[in-house]
Amino acid sequence: MTPPVLRTRADLRAATRPWQRAGERIGVVPTMGALHDGHLSLVGAAKATCDRVVATIFVNPKQFNNASDLEKYPRDEATDAGRLERFAVDVLYVPHPEEMYPDSFATGVSVAGLTDVMEGTHRPGHFDGVTTVVTKLFLQTSATDAFFGEKDFQQLQVVRRMAADLDIPVTVHGCPTIREIDGLAMSSRNLLLSDRARTAAPRLHEEMESIAEGVSQGADFSTLRARAVTRLQAAGFTQIDYLEIRANDDLALLDRPTRPARLFAAAWLAGVRLIDNIAV
Ligand code: PAF
Repeated sequence: MTPPVLRTRADLRAATRPWQRAGERIGVVPTMGALHDGHLSLVGAAKATCDRVVATIFVNPKQFNNASDLEKYPRDEATDAGRLERFAVDVLYVPHPEEMYPDSFATGVSVAGLTDVMEGTHRPGHFDGVTTVVTKLFLQTSATDAFFGEKDFQQLQVVRRMAADLDIPVTVHGCPTIREIDGLAMSSRNLLLSDRARTAAPRLHEEMESIAEGVSQGADFSTLRARAVTRLQAAGFTQIDYLEIRANDDLALLDRPTRPARLFAAAWLAGVRLIDNIAV
């Protein structure tokens, strides 16, 4: 059975109130739809951890810094509902934009520091949109637990900071990145790749693995990076927004992993921006 779809805060509250009263753990899996196995792994983790699971689909206009990106974002609610069928989620919440942002809407949630780098630099305003909508979704769903993918590691750390700083009583769980068989990190944006670009796309992860391997053997990161950039450009990547090592906790830039760290990348291929990160 496809999950019951609720579209208003009032209907959602009516569904969650009895769960809350019974002291049940309510897991939320916030998504923007175009669900793939990465999202479904979050739903699986929520089902394994919580008594109730609410999956949400909302293509959040506030986190797009580019109108055509918002326009092109893949949307297919019926297919998404079908993909959720086998998980028996309790509710699929798909609010209307007016339900989330009525004309009178005037508030934003903003996290400093962690948002000043990587996606924050290349997508101005993006994280304010994310933290604003995630705060609303946490409150609307009465969640006790929330599930996010490590594919968007910076987002995960920003949401953790926000929940801690605002005393939001939600446990934020990070779940491992799910990859295609050829290593490409699953992402709704992969649907936008042409066949040719899809063939080249796994090169990003391959080059990242090769850098991680080199770094683990003590090679100089900037040399490895320069070689990887040349190879990525030869494979058709037109622009590398960043390819850098940063600490897991505060996302400080490192020239080698002297503490728990990840290699982060964002690169453009045939008009599609791919992001990825791996532990180093
Ligand atoms: O990761 C996403 O899909 C979005 O940023 C999120 C967390 C659903 C907020 O809109």
